[in-house]
Amino acid sequence: MPAVRRFESATNKKRVAILISGRGSNMRALVEAAKAPDYPAKIVGVLSNKADAEGLAFAAVEAIPTAVRSLRDYPDKAAADVAIDAVLRGWHADIVCLAGFMRLLSPGLVDRWRGRMLNIHPSLLPLHKGLHTHEQALATGAAEHGCTVHFVTPGMDEGPSILQTRVPVLPGDTPESLAARVLVAEHATYPRALAMVARGEARFER
Ligand code: GRF
Repeated sequence: MPAVRRFESATNKKRVAILISGRGSNMRALVEAAKAPDYPAKIVGVLSNKADAEGLAFAAVEAIPTAVRSLRDYPDKAAADVAIDAVLRGWHADIVCLAGFMRLLSPGLVDRWRGRMLNIHPSLLPLHKGLHTHEQALATGAAEHGCTVHFVTPGMDEGPSILQTRVPVLPGDTPESLAARVLVAEHATYPRALAMVARGEARFER
C-alpha cells in the first residue's frame, strides 16, 4: 500500500467521491472545506454523468481525479450504474456525495452505498421534493425555505435527513433570488453534514 494511503488511514480522513451533473458549486464548497487540516474527509474523485459539466474543470484544476460515465455510453441504466460503482471502488471511496447529480441511481447501487451516500436538496424536506423547489416554495406562500442534506435511499429525496438550514422567504422574492439565498446556505450546510457523517456523529439507522 502506498505511503499516502497509510497516512490517510492513520489520520482517519474518510475518502469521499462527489457525483455532479453541472455547475458543481456544492462540490466546490466540499473541496474547499476539505482543505482544512482538521477536516475529517478528503475528496478523492469527482464523477459526472455529463462530459460538459462545468464542475469538472474546477476539479481538474485542483488536481482531483475526474471521470465521466454517461448513460448514453451504456445499454441501460443498470450497466451505467455498474460502471459508476467501479469508478467509486477504484477510488477506494468511503462516502459518496451527490452534489447536483441529476439522475436517479438504481436501487442496487443505492443499497450498496446505504448509509455512505449523501445528497443535498434545495428544500426543507419532506417539503418540495423533485425539481423547481423554489417555485414550489413560493407557490405555497411559505415564510421559510432552505436546504437539506440527507442519506440517499432508492426513493427520490426520501432518505433520512442529516442537517437542514432554514432561510427566510422575503417579500418580492423570485425563484432566482430565493435560489441564490438557498445556495449560500447549501454551501455552508453540505460541508458540515459531510463532517458529521465522516466523524460518525450522524449514522443511517433505518
Ligand atoms: C443545488 O441547488 C442542489 O441542491 C441541487 O442541484 C443544485 C446543484 O448546484 N441538487 P451545483 O451544481 O452544486 O452548483
